[in-house]
Amino acid sequence: MNDRTKPTKIDPDDIGHNESANPSFDSILAARLSRRSFMLGSVGTGAMAVFGGVSLATLAGCDSDSNTPPAGLASNETLLGFTAVSKSLADAVVIPDGYSYSVLCALGDPLRAGTGPYGNVGLDDDYENRFGDHHDGMEYFGLSAAGTPDPASSERALIGMNHEATTDEKLSSFFLFANGGTSSLPRPAAEVDKEMAIHGISVFEIKKNAGTFAYVQDSAFNFRIHQNTPVEIHGPAAGDDLMVTKYSNAGTMTRGTLNNCGTGKTPWGTLVSGEENWAGYFTRQVGDDAARTAAGYAKSVTSLNRYGRAEGKASRHGWETGGAEDKYRRWEISLAGASADGSDDYRNELNTFGYIVEIDPYDKSQAARKRTALGRFAHEAAAFSIPVEGKPLAVYQGDDSRGEYVYKFVSAKAWVAGDASRADRLAVGNEYLDAGTLYVAKFNADGSGEWIELSIDNPAIKNYAGYPFADQADVCVNSRLAADAVGATKMDRPEWSAVNPANGEVYIALTNNSNRTVATADAANPRYYSDVYGTSTVKTGNVNGHIIRLREGAGEAASTSFSWDVYLFGAESGAGSAINLSGLTTDQDFSSPDGLVFTPSTGICWIQTDDGAYTDVTNCMMVAALPGQVGDGDTVTVSGTGVTTYRGKLPTADTLKRFLVGVPGCEITGLCESPDGRALFVNIQHPGEATAQADIADPTKYQSHWPGNIGYGAGGNLARPRSATIVITKNDGGRIGS
Ligand code: FEO
Ligand code: CA
Ligand code: CA
Repeated sequence: MNDRTKPTKIDPDDIGHNESANPSFDSILAARLSRRSFMLGSVGTGAMAVFGGVSLATLAGCDSDSNTPPAGLASNETLLGFTAVSKSLADAVVIPDGYSYSVLCALGDPLRAGTGPYGNVGLDDDYENRFGDHHDGMEYFGLSAAGTPDPASSERALIGMNHEATTDEKLSSFFLFANGGTSSLPRPAAEVDKEMAIHGISVFEIKKNAGTFAYVQDSAFNFRIHQNTPVEIHGPAAGDDLMVTKYSNAGTMTRGTLNNCGTGKTPWGTLVSGEENWAGYFTRQVGDDAARTAAGYAKSVTSLNRYGRAEGKASRHGWETGGAEDKYRRWEISLAGASADGSDDYRNELNTFGYIVEIDPYDKSQAARKRTALGRFAHEAAAFSIPVEGKPLAVYQGDDSRGEYVYKFVSAKAWVAGDASRADRLAVGNEYLDAGTLYVAKFNADGSGEWIELSIDNPAIKNYAGYPFADQADVCVNSRLAADAVGATKMDRPEWSAVNPANGEVYIALTNNSNRTVATADAANPRYYSDVYGTSTVKTGNVNGHIIRLREGAGEAASTSFSWDVYLFGAESGAGSAINLSGLTTDQDFSSPDGLVFTPSTGICWIQTDDGAYTDVTNCMMVAALPGQVGDGDTVTVSGTGVTTYRGKLPTADTLKRFLVGVPGCEITGLCESPDGRALFVNIQHPGEATAQADIADPTKYQSHWPGNIGYGAGGNLARPRSATIVITKNDGGRIGS
């Protein structure tokens, strides 16, 4: 199937390497179902049990938790003391009474002195000097008045932010072009140049101005990373045969970082950014499998297929057709040259993407570094364990595709507190992130779990029949295949990971999984059901997602065992207790958790959604949570699958509350705060995403006009929608979430 034609309302992140068809749902029966109809049952038997009974070993009571404020919180503040906002389909960002927001920056805003304001009618250019598109994960890096790193500063800072992708329908990012751009091949070079520039990362300065944060257009700190920016390759795969390209015969460099989704902040003050759906930007010709096999590269075909690049599969934007220049040709990764090692073509180019990338936000002169030791997959966030002097650091990571895995990297070096303030930050990164051990998670039915080492010395990997691993570099580059070899647990699309600062427990958002079936449901991914979207579209699988959490054995980041439970099940509050297993009320219900961040100042866990299942009722949202700990709930047997799982303590009105609802077509993603907790930064990504490219000339048909419709930038109520970062403050000056 050609993945260029993206039907609207399909999440472009919802990608699975496993293309096998789901069991089909009975379409006649489905057509009779109306919205608010939910069904449980086993597909294929013809017998579908309408929900009603749920077998609960013990139903936890709804006793209200007392929200003990963390140290430093004023005694008159109550966390989650705000009134929950209602679900909304309005073209407006909704936040609680007593709070205000303003737009900090949006797609196309200038990042250099002398770059003009964004016109937003598809005529702007020079995106290397502007904010990119699809604002995603971001982190806050404090700056002193003197312009030196100051983690405690709530007055001045740098923000490092991902620009994951762009709003597209057929090849082109249509809001960036006056006429919607070219929806057939070849793509004009000028269009490709724009699109390559709007992907990547922005680092920009913010400063309080009369008490309100604004970004500093002409700051010397500002910089962009786009698809022509040189980036270094580090770790076991640096210099390996697998990384040799025409651009870097030494296999130590590549250009750009792509489809950057979640972020993380290292204990030494740098940004880490996850490359997610990078594979879709490349293509290779039909016949390439045979060419590679004839040239002795047969195993590369296995790798390419496992990472979603079967021969003949079209690229997302057709960048390879922009012209004869190397910067365009690199996106076509067929074996084309005569060399034995790939030094005269881009047959290995795909191997240079798919990593956690480290950036020093304070020093734009230093190239970003791809950390291959942390594995190669569809990376989301990278969450660090709480550093403990003398103990290794762990980095928790999800691979967002249907049925992919959860990973952990453990540094070889034990933490030295003094490294937190060293000035040679990327050298510190070399010490912690280039040598260590990569693990993949196996979730057992009894609530325990194992971290399985992905090492070439593991016989299951060394002797794997599915792929002949050469060495540890090969294991890092093909970590999905190594994880296959050791029998890791296939999860419901692992998105962001986050570490609870209160106890070190690890939370992982499992957004949804349309491939989950009754037959494949397991304790850690226990739900299969159906939901009718609108009046006729039926969605099946784990429709609304869940959040799993784990506690390391003996609390050690380097432990190879853990215990786990499901903190929360996403659900519609009207779905009934067999699906709404966490008992979400109308003030709490959410679907498709994705972004997940604990704010250090309050310990609040912010859950952000990227949803396509509940968006007939509400736009995507952000929910604030005060979670407990692994094992604080009960055991439950899930109707429909019959799987027994472990459920966190049911939330109460005091421990889970909707804080924000976004605009039509958007997802909510990325979050950071000022250290005093009084400014919260949140991204509204791809507003108006379901707009039809054919309607570009008729602004009245755009799905959203935000933020133009609140007076930000040009265009007013008929503006083209723009991804943007907002800053939220409390009107009484208090902390966000109180
Ligand atoms: Fe970019 Fe899986 O979210
Ligand atoms: Ca995401
Ligand atoms: Ca997403």
